[in-house]
Amino acid sequence: EADLAEQSPVFQQLLTRLKAMSDIQYRIHQEQGSEQLLSEIYLIGNTKQLRVEDMEALPGVKQAIRVSKEYRMLGRHSGDHRAQGFDYNGVHFGQDNLNVFAGLCAVDTPEHVEQMMKALQENGQVCTRMGAYKPRTSPYAFQGHGQACLPYVFELAGKYGMRVIAMEILHESHMDEIREALEKTGHPTGVMLQIGTRNTQNFELLKAVGRQTEFPVLLKRGFGITLEESLNAAEYLASEGNTKVVFGLRGMKTNLGDPHRNFVDFAQVPTVKRLTRMPVCIDPSHSVGSRDAGPDGIPEVFQVTAEGVVAGANMILVDFHPDPATALVDGPQALLLKELPWFLEDVRLARETYEERVLLAAAQGVAE
Ligand code: E4P
Ligand code: PEP
Repeated sequence: EADLAEQSPVFQQLLTRLKAMSDIQYRIHQEQGSEQLLSEIYLIGNTKQLRVEDMEALPGVKQAIRVSKEYRMLGRHSGDHRAQGFDYNGVHFGQDNLNVFAGLCAVDTPEHVEQMMKALQENGQVCTRMGAYKPRTSPYAFQGHGQACLPYVFELAGKYGMRVIAMEILHESHMDEIREALEKTGHPTGVMLQIGTRNTQNFELLKAVGRQTEFPVLLKRGFGITLEESLNAAEYLASEGNTKVVFGLRGMKTNLGDPHRNFVDFAQVPTVKRLTRMPVCIDPSHSVGSRDAGPDGIPEVFQVTAEGVVAGANMILVDFHPDPATALVDGPQALLLKELPWFLEDVRLARETYEERVLLAAAQGVAE
């Protein structure tokens, strides 16, 4: 704020006017628009008393928009010229592309990490998932190796050319542990911080993660709350400053005794894309919860992945393991390494179908 005000007397004048308004607080946010850097000022409080015309008449104001919906920063609003998505460590994350993050639900041994990363590299992958800090239902269950495994995870990631690792954190101190371990390794590997379904509404964690802009964030939908509540949780990250947010669908808890571990909610991929500007991730592993295949021989994890990708998903978080029988967390849902090329080809087919469907929609004049 001080920098901006110093650079521009008009801005200074505007802030003075805003400060004089009663019942109104403001928050300044800068974001790269499609053509230029945009300075946005969010007015919070009793904004009903303000008229759009009066706001547009203030010094330095190009446009005033009344945001009637929640998710002011991550939502889609009319007249919005903000850029879509973001780039991180050489990888693009947007509503227009697809990244696969296959990997270990939980890091167990350096050998398994190496086998996983080698397989990913052989299959042209540069992203992976590696769980170091595990949120477990039982306090007696394996809690993850935590900080202790970071040096070899990042070392091997560098060796096998991994650019981005999705890694769940449970506490803000884990960000420092990750930053420190990355710096020590010195490889050009990046981390996407994952906030899991159990922490979707851990507001203090969200605020702390939102205050840093070094790492992008994958926020998973809470498994027992509404979509709107989860989207507001994502907005917490953005409202604190970090707009590099991917939203993850991972299935919902029901009390209906369904055969899947969670009720698959991937039909909401287009809904999240319509309501917000966030890329949407699907997690077929935690949704389905098993490696079971249908009578056609296609594992259900593949089937629901295809469902999400055909609906326009932008990221897939999926569990693989070199030896699922010995996995310390969620072994029954981990796919086998020999299934990786098949999985990737299945995803390619589904994505191709999605792209053809977009062309078809454009030909009907339906798409924007
Ligand atoms: C894994 O990713 C989670 O930690 C796991 O799904 C938690 O479930 P559980 O502790 O009930 O096995
Ligand atoms: C995970 O992806 O490792 C995980 C714990 O997922 P969720 O938060 O969706 O349960």
